[in-house]
Amino acid sequence: MSRSIKKAVFPVAGLGSRFLPATKAQPKEMLPIVDKPLIQYAVEEAVEAGITEMIFITGRNKRAIEDHFDKAYELEAELEAAGKQQLLEMVRSVIPKNVNCMYIRQPMALGLGHAVLCAKPIVGDDAFAVLLADDFMQGERDGLGVMAQMTASFAREQSSLLGVQDVPRAHTKQYGIVSTEPFGERLEKIAAIVEKPAPELAPSTLAVVGRYVLTPRIFSCLEKIGKGAGGEIQLTDGIEALMQYETVLAYRYLGRRFDCGSKLGYLQASVEIGLQHAETGAVFAEWLEQRG
Ligand code: UTP
Repeated sequence: MSRSIKKAVFPVAGLGSRFLPATKAQPKEMLPIVDKPLIQYAVEEAVEAGITEMIFITGRNKRAIEDHFDKAYELEAELEAAGKQQLLEMVRSVIPKNVNCMYIRQPMALGLGHAVLCAKPIVGDDAFAVLLADDFMQGERDGLGVMAQMTASFAREQSSLLGVQDVPRAHTKQYGIVSTEPFGERLEKIAAIVEKPAPELAPSTLAVVGRYVLTPRIFSCLEKIGKGAGGEIQLTDGIEALMQYETVLAYRYLGRRFDCGSKLGYLQASVEIGLQHAETGAVFAEWLEQRG
């Protein structure tokens, strides 16, 4: 098993029901934060971490993602003919030249664990990253992105890592929740993991967010477990099985997360990035101020 992570899995086959009707005919991962779709931010985070093989687990209505990372001949020809060089460069640089994109279809939305298992034929015996694009992550200003922090930590520890953050107890039902033991800087050893516990039953308020680095043994674990909460094959259950063989660590990432699978988180991310954006930042800030 290589010490460095070169492959990332992007499960994008969910139904996105919290965002209907916007997600009726397009994937939620194509919703833009200002001018870039969520999935592009996630791919950029993976590229920053040195990852070059991007594996998308797609479903129905997800063609737009393949098109987004493909060459757009007609559009490029028209921008070139119109002399719109800057836009042309923007369209061409959506994905760096050394990065490969691969697509596997998840025939039915049988759960996140099932989606990750669909990547087994391409991932093989390598450790790999998983990024859920609807968890929009920003590293600290001038600091590393969250996946780059995690792959650096993996290079040292060689153990599976789950990105975690503290959440209000009332929110535990939305997350996988872990109980932990001290381990190292920003790292804790996971003692137990439960999927979406009620606040009064949650063993802690440390929640797993959509960033993982997993060893390939996760695949045999996912193959063994059956359907869990909600009748889905849960990644959380696969990780619980993995913990019987290997140490699994929780990584308290440096940065901020916006839950863009929810309307509120999506709006908050849009305001935040709108304020940071070179083109809109200053005027948007002024407009917000005037609005009171
Ligand atoms: P969510 O729990 O956010 O589900 O999935 P969802 O279907 O996308 O959205 P809602 O809850 O209906 O609004 C977490 C991640 O797992 C992927 C989703 O695309 C999302 O990135 N996923 C989930 C799959 O790829 N396949 C599945 O079967 C389930």
